[in-house]
This record gives sequence, structure tokens and C-alpha cells, in this order.
Amino acid sequence: MPRGPTIAYPKDISAILMMMDVHPGDTVLESGSGSGAMSLFLSRAVGPKGRVLSYEIRDDHHSLAKKNYRRWRSAWEIGHVDEWPDNVEFILKDISTAAADMKSVTLDAVVLDMLHPQCALPVVHPSLKEGGVCAVYLANITQVIDLLDAIRSCKLPFLCERIIEVTHRSWSVLPAKLKHAKSSQMVETQGNIEEPPQNEYEEIHIQDQAVLKESKYNESLGDAAETNRSVPYIARPSHWQEAHSAFLTKLRKFRPLLS
Ligand SMILES: C[S@@+](CC[C@H](N)C(=O)[O-])C[C@H]1O[C@@H](n2cnc3c(N)ncnc32)[C@H](O)[C@@H]1O
Repeated sequence: MPRGPTIAYPKDISAILMMMDVHPGDTVLESGSGSGAMSLFLSRAVGPKGRVLSYEIRDDHHSLAKKNYRRWRSAWEIGHVDEWPDNVEFILKDISTAAADMKSVTLDAVVLDMLHPQCALPVVHPSLKEGGVCAVYLANITQVIDLLDAIRSCKLPFLCERIIEVTHRSWSVLPAKLKHAKSSQMVETQGNIEEPPQNEYEEIHIQDQAVLKESKYNESLGDAAETNRSVPYIARPSHWQEAHSAFLTKLRKFRPLLS
């Protein structure tokens, strides 16, 4: 998907959808649309009877999000008989100026992925149903502190239930081969191995050069099968980890106490 602004990654979006407890038929507000990555998942989650309102302040991002959404819906049609319902409304507007729009909607959930999300809360909270969740995607923990401080100082009706960081660890599981194999079977190892294998087997590193090494790799496995040798495997965390992380903050709307 062509990206402009940084997208929210699927691992975080999955957690956000669970946090918001989105159901088919729900109405969900998001700000900002960015590249539209989150919009696609929201569209799926609310389904044909649901609705997504996606606010974006920048014209170029608004256009990109719409384009990506359009392409995704076209791609959907390739593998499905029916077209995916057009259930996302992309709105080019600063969310902090959208108070008038909010008067006519009831929101089941809100997701904010934008700078200074605290500016959006006073606008969206009157329309968010009681008990509804506002999930906020933040890049660093000081932004979480700023958000919670704004909620406290402005007495906004939100309770912070959870702040989570979703970490994933990728693993490599690769067959090893005999160190003293014929030269035609030799497969070069990559330079970034932390420690060389200690035993009589050598790790076959194919992850980064899968295409280049594929024939040799198959040849090596084929020979092993021929001689009926069992092939040991090496399993370890991958050298390359997806480092991108975010803090997902779950705010639950409560009924304001009468003072
Ligand atoms: C990190 S991007 C969002 C990425 C999006 N969640 C995705 O998955 O593609 C943040 C977006 O928020 C937009 N934004 C910032 N302030 C805003 C505001 N006050 N109202 C609406 N959009 C805003 C930015 O222009 C930017 O496109």
C-alpha cells in the first residue's frame, strides 16, 4: 500500500480493535485518516451495516487515504462475488473544529492516531456512548503522560483502563546441514550470525537471500532425504526484528459525576 504518513501496523490495529470491542453495525470515528491503513481494518470490523467516520486535516493525506481505500475495495472484488460496502466516510477537516458534526451522531468507539489527541477529546466525547472506548495510538510514553494530564486537568469523563505496548518477536526455524558436505552442497552463511554453530552442523541461512539460495537449499535437503539422514533444525529469534512500537491507551468514557 502506498504510504505517506506512518501507518498503524496490523499488530497494533488488532489490539486496538479488541480494546474498542468493535462490532458489526457499529459507528466508529477515527482521526486522522493518514494513509488509510486503520480505516481498512475499521471498515472490515464494522461490516456492511456499520459506519466509519474518518477525519483528516491534510488534503494530501485525505486523498491518499481515499485512494488506498478505493484500491482495497477493488482488490476485494477479485476474490469475492459482492463488492465491499462503501462504509467509510473520509472527511477533510480538523477534528478539533468538528463539534457541529458530532451533534447528529452516536459513536460506539473512537480511535485517535494524531498529534495532540487531547485536542480531539472535548469534541468527540459528547457523542461517544457511555461506556464506549476511545483508543489512542501514541508513539512515546511522554505523549501518554500529556494525554492523561489533559484529561485530569480538563476534567474530561475518561478513565484510563490500560496502556499497552504490543511486542512481537520473529523467530527463524531453519534446517542445518552437515559441515563436511560436498562443496556443491555448501551454502554460504550470512555475515550477521551472533555466534557460530558449535556442533557438526552449520545453519543454512536462507531468510535474507531466499531466492538466490533456493536451488542450493533444495539440493541440500534432497541429498539428505536420499541418504535417509534426518535433518536437525536450529530455532532462534530472528536477527531482524520489527522494532516499531507504540503505546496503546484505552480510555473508557464514564458518566460525569454531578458536582
Ligand atoms: C500517523 S497518521 C495516521 C495514520 C493512520 N492511522 C493509518 O493507519 O494510516 C496521523 C494523521 O493525523 C492527521 N492529523 C493531525 N492532526 C489532526 C487533526 N487535528 N484533525 C485531523 N487529522 C489530524 C495528520 O495529518 C496525519 O495524516
